[in-house]
Amino acid sequence: MIAVIFGPPGSGKGTQASRLENELHVKHLSTGEILRAEVARETPVGKQVKRIMAAGDLVPDDLIVDIVRRRLPEAEEGPGVLLDGFPRTVAQAEALDEMLTGEGHVVNFVLALTVPEDQLVDRILHRAAVEGRPDDTREAIGERMREYRELTAAVLDHYRKRGVRIDEVDGTGTPDEVFDRISAQLSS
Ligand code: AP5
Ligand code: MG
Repeated sequence: MIAVIFGPPGSGKGTQASRLENELHVKHLSTGEILRAEVARETPVGKQVKRIMAAGDLVPDDLIVDIVRRRLPEAEEGPGVLLDGFPRTVAQAEALDEMLTGEGHVVNFVLALTVPEDQLVDRILHRAAVEGRPDDTREAIGERMREYRELTAAVLDHYRKRGVRIDEVDGTGTPDEVFDRISAQLSS
């Protein structure tokens, strides 16, 4: 099973994906986490993306597609994969379709979290005070929201057009409330 957890910055993709990983025993693959680890280890990729990420911009499609292409086969050996933060452009979605077709797989469903933008910003600013992620500044948050609206939102239409099941879930309330809604939605 291949699923995508989708939503704007701060919508709870990472939070809910961790829970789903434990619950469904799927492999959580977060491209943001992979890139942050590359930056922390100061690898060539990390050096290339550090400033792009801190500014809240998307890294180049070919770079991120390469990363996913290298990691997907191993993740696919388990009961399922939950992609978080990928695909984030229509070009990435097309590249993923191509990768999966080669293996006889498809994206089975997209779980899309919806949260009003003012709440997203509040959540991220709250995290900024606690964790200090370099892209959790007001300026970078604005850029991340803009990238989401201009490039990422269209990914949902890509799947809609291909007839992929899209489960839209209200991402407001506590993480427990959101998780209960997701569980109810997925079992329906
Ligand atoms: P990425 O790491 O994917 O970040 P993001 O999409 O901006 O989203 P976040 O991780 O901030 O939010 P989330 O939806 O995971 O929510 P979370 O659970 O953390 O990407 C970072 C960067 O990497 C990109 O900007 C880009 O540069 C690059 N990148 C990554 N993938 C890429 C790709 N495919 N192509 C190109 N570039 C790519 O929750 C947010 C906060 O809210 C947390 O503090 C959490 O504790 C809290 N929270 C969660 N749920 C709730 C709740 N229900 N109520 C209150 N607080 C909550
Ligand atoms: Mg995340």
